[in-house]
Amino acid sequence: MAAKETCFGVIGISGRGRGMLAELLSVEGVKVTAVCDKYEDRARDGVEIVKKKAGYTPDSYLDYRQLLAREDIVAVLCCTTWITHSRIAVDAMRAGKHIAFEVGGAASLEECWQMVRVSEQTGKFCMILENCCYDRNELAIFNMKKLGLFGEIIHLQGGYQHDLRDEISMGDLIRHGRIQNFSNRNGDLYPTHQLGPIAKLIDINRGNRFLTLSSMSSKTRGMHEWLNNSPDVDRILDSLDITDEQAAWFKEKYLDYHFTQGDIVTTMIKCARGETIFLIHDCMLPRPYSRNYRVQGTKGIYMEDKDSVYFDGVSPRRHDWEPFAPYRDKYEHPLWKQYAADGIHAGGHGGMDYLVLCAFAESAINDLKPPIDVYDTAAWMSVTCLSEQSVALGGAPVAVHDFTDGLWIDREPYRRGKYCLEEVCTDFFE
Ligand SMILES: NC(=O)c1ccc[n+]([C@@H]2O[C@H](COP(=O)([O-])OP(=O)(O)OC[C@H]3O[C@@H](n4cnc5c(N)ncnc54)[C@H](O)[C@@H]3O)[C@@H](O)[C@H]2O)c1
Repeated sequence: MAAKETCFGVIGISGRGRGMLAELLSVEGVKVTAVCDKYEDRARDGVEIVKKKAGYTPDSYLDYRQLLAREDIVAVLCCTTWITHSRIAVDAMRAGKHIAFEVGGAASLEECWQMVRVSEQTGKFCMILENCCYDRNELAIFNMKKLGLFGEIIHLQGGYQHDLRDEISMGDLIRHGRIQNFSNRNGDLYPTHQLGPIAKLIDINRGNRFLTLSSMSSKTRGMHEWLNNSPDVDRILDSLDITDEQAAWFKEKYLDYHFTQGDIVTTMIKCARGETIFLIHDCMLPRPYSRNYRVQGTKGIYMEDKDSVYFDGVSPRRHDWEPFAPYRDKYEHPLWKQYAADGIHAGGHGGMDYLVLCAFAESAINDLKPPIDVYDTAAWMSVTCLSEQSVALGGAPVAVHDFTDGLWIDREPYRRGKYCLEEVCTDFFE
C-alpha cells in the first residue's frame, strides 16, 4: 500500500540540512511544504532544493516558530546546531508535531528531561536521527548478536574519530556551528554515532541502562599546531569565498588561540547488566575516519579497525583474526538485503541516511512509535554534558540519569517492523 502523502517541515539548511532535505524528498509519502533557516540565503537554498527535486515550491521562514505554527505540518526534520536541537524539539512537540533532529550531545540534563516530559505530555515523538544505527555493518552485527554469535556481550567500544580541523576551525568564516563548542566546552561532544548502535545492541532502556560514566580529556594541541603550521590552511582559505581582510583576521585570531576541548576525550560507561563501554572523541588530530566499533562477548569479537572477527570454535585458527566481509554477507540484515534488492540508491553515507529517514517518515506518516524514542535520545545525548562534568571533576564518576523513571525494568512492548532496532523482524520482509 502506498504511503499517504504527509506534510513535513525542515529546519536548518546548511551542509547537512541540504543533503537530508534532498534525501527526505525521495522517501515515499513525504511532502515538504515549508523550510526554514535563520539565514535568508540558506532558507532560499531549501526552496530551490524542493523545487528542483519535487517540482513544487515550499514556503520559507527565518523564524522556526512560524513554521511550527502551520497546521498542515505533521512532522519536522531539524538539522540545526547542537545547542538548538532540544529547544526546537520541545517547541515542535508543544505545537503538535513529531520531530526528528540531527545528532549532537546535550549541554544540560535539564534539556534531556524536558524533551522526555514534553514528549510524554504531548504524545508526540522526539527521535535523534542516529543514522549509524542503520549502517550496513552495524545492522549485520546486530543480526549476528541476536543469533547468539557473540555469546553474552561483555565489552563494547566506539567513537567519533574524524579529522575535522578545517571544518571546525573555519566555522566563523563558513557559518558553521561546531566552533563555539570546541572553543568553550571539554567533553565527548559527539557520542551518539557509535553509542546509538551500542545501546541498541545491549538493550539500553529496555532491560538495561547506563549507570555511571567517567571521562578524561587530553591536552589540546592539534588544532593550534595545524592552524599555525600547516600549508593546508592557506590553501583552504584561498578556496573560500572570503575577502583578504577576513583571511587576515582569521590568521590573527588563531595565532594564540586556546581551544578548551581536549584533543582526545575518553569515556567509560558502566551498565546495569554489567557491560562496559569505552567511547572516544577524536576530531582535532590528523587521522583517517573510524568509529572504532568493537563488540566483544563470551564467544567472539568484532573489531572495525581490523575489519575482522574471531569466534571460538568457529574461526579456523585459534588466536587468528578472520575477515568480517564474508560474515557480513552471510548475516546481512534483511533491511539491507531488501535495500540492495531494490537497487540501493546510495545517497548520504552509503545509504544509512536514507534508511534512518525512512524509519522517521514511516513513524510520522502512520503516527506510530519511532525505533529511536525520546528515552534513547535523552540517554544518548546526556553522555555529553555528563562527560563534561566528569572531565571538570578530574575523571570522577558521575551518575547517568534514568530517563525512563524505572520503566527500563518493565517497559511497554516496542513496535515491531522493518526499521525495528530491538529485534530483527524477518517476518516483515517476507
Ligand atoms: N548524522 C550525520 O552523519 C551528520 C553529518 C553531518 C552533520 N550532522 C549534524 O547535522 C547538524 C547540522 O550540521 P551542519 O554541518 O549542517 O551544521 P551548520 O552549523 O553548518 O548548520 C546549522 C544550520 O542551522 C541553522 N540554524 C541554527 N539555529 C537555527 C534556528 N534557531 N532557526 C533556524 N535555523 C537555525 C544555521 O543557520 C545553519 O544554517 C549537526 O547536528 C551535525 O552534528 C550529522
